[in-house]
Amino acid sequence: MLRSVVLGCGSYLPARILSNDELARSVETTDEWIVQRTGIRERHIAAPGEMTSDLAYNAARAALDHAHVDASSIDLIVLATATPDYTFPATAVAVQARLGINHGAAFDLQAVCSGFVYGLQVADSLLRAGIYKRALVVGAETFSRILDWNDRTTCVLFGDGAGALVLEAQEGTGTNADRGLLTTHLRSDGRHQAKLYVDGGPSSTQTVGHLRMEGREVFKHAVAMITDVIHDAFDATGLNAGDIDWFVPHQANKRIIDGSAHKLGISPEKVVITVDRHGNTSAASIPLALADAVADRRIRRGNLILLEAMGGGFTWGSALLRW
Ligand code: UT7
Repeated sequence: MLRSVVLGCGSYLPARILSNDELARSVETTDEWIVQRTGIRERHIAAPGEMTSDLAYNAARAALDHAHVDASSIDLIVLATATPDYTFPATAVAVQARLGINHGAAFDLQAVCSGFVYGLQVADSLLRAGIYKRALVVGAETFSRILDWNDRTTCVLFGDGAGALVLEAQEGTGTNADRGLLTTHLRSDGRHQAKLYVDGGPSSTQTVGHLRMEGREVFKHAVAMITDVIHDAFDATGLNAGDIDWFVPHQANKRIIDGSAHKLGISPEKVVITVDRHGNTSAASIPLALADAVADRRIRRGNLILLEAMGGGFTWGSALLRW
């Protein structure tokens, strides 16, 4: 059977770093509150004029270099973002053009913080169906552009960044020993839309709008939803928490990550954390964390990696991947 195997990964963070102390000069908050409640110490903010496609392009370029493959060999680009450059065309086609690719397909996918896991399942399905051979799956966001910088309950939580994986369809044996994506599981429940949303859009207000969140409500559901969809991944493969080499969760809040790892029985040394340095970068957080742990050689070929995300919609999902 065909498997979607990771050939390389890369990431990009804008140069500007915004610390908690700096934020505390413009809204009523403290470094202590933000660190205690979220684990976030700083986040990166895109420069004026620097767009989601710029971040995505840099991450995609880094992933292609890491994979040692030419951009021209990519025939599918799936770009997960909730902060596209324009209402249309898709940010993915801007990245495609900048990479000099003019064959195959490129499109955006919108599942907010779960976008990267959604993107993995979509790309994996198309690769394993034999429709495409080599894919870029990108998560890229400029959430700084949709934050209400006067709302301390949300503006301290998010940051900008991008990450990307190169996936290739390769023949596998169909067992858990194969490299590549072993299983992916997605869920959504639109009854929760109003708990995390942006109050603008082309069809409603004709404005971009600002992010609004009932943080406590999201928090209340997060650990149960995350652990539930991870159990789907375990059930589908027969693997369990003890088999995991690295847990690379969506980076929204250190307390949610710790709570999920604890409930699953995954020890803290196996958890990749970037939320302290990146904040919540929505669809970009998982590939950013993967690239971090690959760069410092924690993640190695053959490792079993567990991914999960949960966010607006609500949407949530999990993936098991052998590196
Ligand atoms: O990407 C996926 C989607 N997002 C998430 O997963 C986020 C999920 N939610 C969370 O991470 C947490 O709920 C937050 C970090 C947003 C908030 O933490 P919390 O422990 O749930 O705090 P809270 O909302 O219950 O607020 C506690 C207090 C409130 O004051 P009162 O009502 O107790 O007087 C807030 O007004 O903290 C206050 N507060 C702040 N204080 C200082 C809220 N934001 C701030 C702030 N600085 N930035």
